[in-house]
Amino acid sequence: MIVSASILSADLCELGNELDRAKAAGCDHIHFDVMDGVFVNNISYGIPVLESVRRRTDMFVDAHLMITDPIRYIEAFAKSGADNITFHLEAAPDVNAVINEIRRCGKRAGIAIKPATPVSQVLEYAGSVDMILIMTVEPGFGGQGFIPESTDRIRALRTALNERGLTTDIQVDGGINAKTCPEVKAAGANVLVAGSYLFGAKDMAQAVKAMRV
Ligand code: DX5
Ligand code: ZN
Repeated sequence: MIVSASILSADLCELGNELDRAKAAGCDHIHFDVMDGVFVNNISYGIPVLESVRRRTDMFVDAHLMITDPIRYIEAFAKSGADNITFHLEAAPDVNAVINEIRRCGKRAGIAIKPATPVSQVLEYAGSVDMILIMTVEPGFGGQGFIPESTDRIRALRTALNERGLTTDIQVDGGINAKTCPEVKAAGANVLVAGSYLFGAKDMAQAVKAMRV
């Protein structure tokens, strides 16, 4: 089970300290959300901030690109220090080309789907990526409630992967906290992203522990 801290909910004025805090609390990965104001209705941060994150921490950095036509920026995010690059199926005119570009840059590859995208659409790429991200909220903002129908989608994906003999990671992102963790884990998710739950916790180490139960 991997716990990934989404710094979208961190205090960005204190980003260095927030990264240290996530590491000290026992988080495994840093989740770095990139929004372009086109693919989603919000704008977050990009390459210069990722470079600063990379300089500050030795943690595994997972970039979640919520951007249109992501192939244009794969190399830039790879060079800026992402260890994994996840892009959205819905945003890529040529999905295989994006996966190949991430591989060419020597990084782990993930593919994400929004809540309304059928799980069946991602299956043909399951053997070519390291991770599939099932969005458990509509992408764009932190602090939203988990969409309950997501659990069946995770279960369907894990079953389909098992049938194909694949051990691809299933990541969940959006509304993940100690309450929603048990059901997404039981359904087959193994990479858990949390933003507001972790950075809003009084005791982050306790919150991480509660996610691992
Ligand atoms: C939303 C982002 C998430 C976000 C999750 O589009 O992809 O990573 O930070 O935030 P919480 O955990 O607060 O739902
Ligand atoms: Zn995300």
